[in-house]
Amino acid sequence: MTYILGILGHPLDHSVSVPMHMSVIFKLGIDYVYMSFDVLPENIPHAVNQFKKDRIRGFNVTIPYKETIMGHLDGIDEKALRIGAVNTVNNENGRLKGYNTDGVGYIRSLKEETGFNPSGKHVLIMGAGGAAKAVAFSLLEAGVDRLVIANRTLSRADELIKHLNEYFPDTPLKSVGTENINQISHKDIHLVVNTTSVGMKGTGSIGIDLTDFSMDTVISDVVYNPVETPLLRMAGKAGLATHNGIGMLVHQGAESFKIWTGIDPPVDVMRQAVLRALKEKH
Ligand SMILES: NC(=O)c1ccc[n+]([C@@H]2O[C@H](COP(=O)([O-])OP(=O)(O)OC[C@H]3O[C@@H](n4cnc5c(N)ncnc54)[C@H](OP(=O)(O)O)[C@@H]3O)[C@@H](O)[C@H]2O)c1
Repeated sequence: MTYILGILGHPLDHSVSVPMHMSVIFKLGIDYVYMSFDVLPENIPHAVNQFKKDRIRGFNVTIPYKETIMGHLDGIDEKALRIGAVNTVNNENGRLKGYNTDGVGYIRSLKEETGFNPSGKHVLIMGAGGAAKAVAFSLLEAGVDRLVIANRTLSRADELIKHLNEYFPDTPLKSVGTENINQISHKDIHLVVNTTSVGMKGTGSIGIDLTDFSMDTVISDVVYNPVETPLLRMAGKAGLATHNGIGMLVHQGAESFKIWTGIDPPVDVMRQAVLRALKEKH
């Protein structure tokens, strides 16, 4: 029997998950396929019931369902519950269990590509959506000492800070509106992460002034299309270390693949497939 994996979202034209996972399936020669499930909100209950069938081993979840899917599952892993979002669902004998691999993927990529050790560091995260939740939670778990969240909608940043404060009551956590981002002191910040969708397909930059950061600050962007976002280009020009979103995408995918199949997939094969697919999309 050919097992089925896939990605659930709407719309899905931005996604490169099909070529990324199919590259591994071909490489390993295993009897699986990975498909796109572009499903409208009103059809989610029906789709979830179909996903309980034997041949469907699991699926990824992307925009806009990472939070709403939680209400349709039979169980949720502790970490995903704490993050408050699910990006991976595993079919465990007809019971659907949710996981979150975005945070693990981000930390693995950040450490591997920049050597950055979050322990004791000060971090500025731009954005307060699903990606911000996973990145903030995982950085705090990895020992970040102080965290500021800047968001266009301040109330959303406030909410995320309140949520994080329940788990990390001893860590100084602060929210600011994006318009005030240049008023906070940048000098002692070690890592800046853009988790907003600004910069996707060349949609500008968040308006942060990079001139007064210390030269060992890492500027990181979870947006992966384009690979070099306007923020990363600006950081490169300012002589700061940069970290793009490809590694997070590949490592979260590898972790999901391991949950579904028990196999540690070759991440280099996945990375090459992602880069090729992105090139073809342009
Ligand atoms: N590399 C990876 O593996 C990976 C994984 C997950 C996500 N991502 C990327 O991360 C990005 C965000 O995804 P998400 O799931 O967090 O989305 P989301 O939950 O919809 O959150 C979007 C965030 O972007 C902000 N934003 C959107 N448009 C803006 C604008 N014009 N100006 C300022 N802020 C704006 C939103 O601010 P408001 O609250 O004010 O609306 C919010 O903070 C996407 O580009 C996605 O592709 C990458």
